[in-house]
Amino acid sequence: MRIGIGNDHAAIELKKEILNYLSEKGYEVINFGINEGETVDYPNIGEEVGNAVANNIVDYGVLICGTGVGISLAANKVNGVRACVCSEPTTASLAKRHNNANIIAFGARIVGVEVAKDIVDSFLNASFEGGRHLRRVNLFKDIEERQK
Ligand code: RB5
Repeated sequence: MRIGIGNDHAAIELKKEILNYLSEKGYEVINFGINEGETVDYPNIGEEVGNAVANNIVDYGVLICGTGVGISLAANKVNGVRACVCSEPTTASLAKRHNNANIIAFGARIVGVEVAKDIVDSFLNASFEGGRHLRRVNLFKDIEERQK
């Protein structure tokens, strides 16, 4: 499975930890984020990872900024993206199971590295449950169409 990871300058260390963690688990991880000594405006990274997910260049995205909020807001502007900010693993699991989230986001100023690992594990190990949730998730597409 291919994962796109993205971060701004608030999340360089946590991005490295999560990138290594996922790589060691056997995921192919593409780094769209920045590294030491660089700064970036988080909407640009959110858009890049959003496009990679929407265009099936990666299967899922992991976005990290200070809070996870700004970078997920940007990703959600890309049609087909369902990015959820999570600060704990239960929401991360339900975001996939019920909302068919394709990007998980969290904040380096909010969660520690062990909780962040639990969040990505819960997200990646969960499966969309379909059924009544599919009808609701399909309504997101209707909203996108009405915005065109
Ligand atoms: C950058 O300082 C910070 O604003 C950003 O990482 C993020 O928290 C925005 O939502």
